[in-house]
Amino acid sequence: MLLLFLLASHASAACTRASLQEATASYLAALSTGKGPTGISALAEGNVTYQENDAVMDISKGVLSVGIKIDFNRSIYDTTECASYTEIVATTGHPYVIGTRLAFNADNKINKIESNVCDTGDWLFNAKGSVDYNKRENWDPIPEAKRDSRAVIKAAGDAYIDAWGDASIRPPFAKDCARLEGGAYISGGNCKLNFPPPFNVTNRRYTIDEELGAVDIFHNFPFLDASIPRDPGTQTNNLIRVEGGQIKYIHENTVCAAKNCGR
Ligand SMILES: *[C@@H]1O[C@H](CO)[C@@H](O)[C@H](O)[C@H]1NC(C)=O
Ligand SMILES: *[C@@H]1O[C@H](CO)[C@@H](O)[C@H](O)[C@H]1NC(C)=O
Ligand SMILES: *[C@@H]1O[C@H](CO)[C@@H](O)[C@H](O)[C@H]1NC(C)=O
Repeated sequence: MLLLFLLASHASAACTRASLQEATASYLAALSTGKGPTGISALAEGNVTYQENDAVMDISKGVLSVGIKIDFNRSIYDTTECASYTEIVATTGHPYVIGTRLAFNADNKINKIESNVCDTGDWLFNAKGSVDYNKRENWDPIPEAKRDSRAVIKAAGDAYIDAWGDASIRPPFAKDCARLEGGAYISGGNCKLNFPPPFNVTNRRYTIDEELGAVDIFHNFPFLDASIPRDPGTQTNNLIRVEGGQIKYIHENTVCAAKNCGR
């Protein structure tokens, strides 16, 4: 037991908030310059796994080669798992909303990049709306004495998603909970969703930041996309801000196979 504990604490000591912030800022710089794999070669393992919308692809064919003018970015940092999550919004040229999870190895090199790349035709996509609503929200660090534990933040995120398939689950929504869904804003505490059964959200990948009270979950989304209503469903990620154990903000990025998921 002791040995396992020592090994575990050694592995998680590899990254710090500062190292994750620095690498994530460099990733954002690479995304804006569009130099493709050479833009991140100093940051990543040579064999970094690159995924867009849950499909492994050639990194040189993805959004890192576009050269995106970023209007807005927000990041969270998981110093336990050594990962970061970043959302960017671009309104000019080809508009995008992109959510990216960077995972780091024990040498602080990125070993996996996964992005949900949303653009015109994806669920409620509206890049201008995404920037405007994002800017109105307050994601300041939570004062240290008021921070929720990692377990509380994760449980709030899971309850939100579990309730989609089980109406008996009551997620801890704040009275003023708001959801930025694509570029549309649902406010006033109306955050609960529920879908027809069978509805089971699988393949959850978490990034959790206690300082910002945030969890991001990449996951499969059954039902919504009319062309892939069952497993695995379409690709989604939800970024959730938790304050005092309650869900305050939700940002959903959902990729659609057909315009607005065929709805
Ligand atoms: C990301 O946002 C911060 C401010 O929140 C800004 O200083 C920085 O330049 C932005 N990065 C990019 C690449 O746009
Ligand atoms: C990727 O490269 C790293 C370092 O070169 C190595 O440790 C790791 O095993 C490689 N992973 C795969 C999947 O080949
Ligand atoms: C949902 O799917 C997961 C993974 O396939 C499985 O472990 C779990 O039992 C399922 N839950 C329900 C309620 O079907």
